[in-house]
Amino acid sequence: MIELERLLRSQGFGSRADCRALVRSGSVCVAGQLCDNPFARFDTDGLSFTVDGVAWLYRRCAYLALHKPAGYECSRRPLHHPSVYSLLPDPLLTRGVQAVGRLDEDSTGLLLLTDDGQFIHRYTSPKKAVPKVYEVTTRHGVDAPQMSALLAGVVLNDDPRPVAAQDCVLLGPRCLRLTVTEGRYHLVKRMLAAAGNRVEALHRISIGGFVLPASLAVGKWMWLETAELERLAADKVSTF
Ligand code: URA
Repeated sequence: MIELERLLRSQGFGSRADCRALVRSGSVCVAGQLCDNPFARFDTDGLSFTVDGVAWLYRRCAYLALHKPAGYECSRRPLHHPSVYSLLPDPLLTRGVQAVGRLDEDSTGLLLLTDDGQFIHRYTSPKKAVPKVYEVTTRHGVDAPQMSALLAGVVLNDDPRPVAAQDCVLLGPRCLRLTVTEGRYHLVKRMLAAAGNRVEALHRISIGGFVLPASLAVGKWMWLETAELERLAADKVSTF
């Protein structure tokens, strides 16, 4: 059981004083009933509430998937473009949701966000080797030696150890589906450059066993519920 004021604070609705004022102003309904007592106590399990008519479910941690558009930076203090964080509602930002790894400003596709530090570690630690699948459009036609080099391992300028794609499938003359298990800076672009080609467009389609849903429009986000989190944790994607 938790006081409403504390509950709202934990969900990103501001300081305790802000949340108290919000409740007293009559903006909050809990389980379908207006509640203007900030000290009323509720069981958080499966608790639904609305703030100014917007529906929320209590979540101990927030897990989201965003369909990142091109032209957005994965930084809270972007330098040249809007931030992906501008695509999320304020309570998610206030509760400290962060991108799980980054996509370049010109890359698109699946970006996970959470306020669970362990989850971030789980999905970004090189030791965990979580597969990430990208659709890569290249400037030049992809040839067999390039495919072999990507699969055998290419050497990048910051590390003498070769980095190999876990999988590489030719989808078209200038289009590859590439699976990598690391998350280094500009990894895919640098791998393609080391193989003698160049990335023109990069779209992440999956992380672990979770595929970006076709129904998630560009620029939109969705909650990851238990089923999606389980799929994410599975090593393999069943279908694309
Ligand atoms: N590799 C890249 O080069 N860029 C990305 O955005 C992601 C992986």
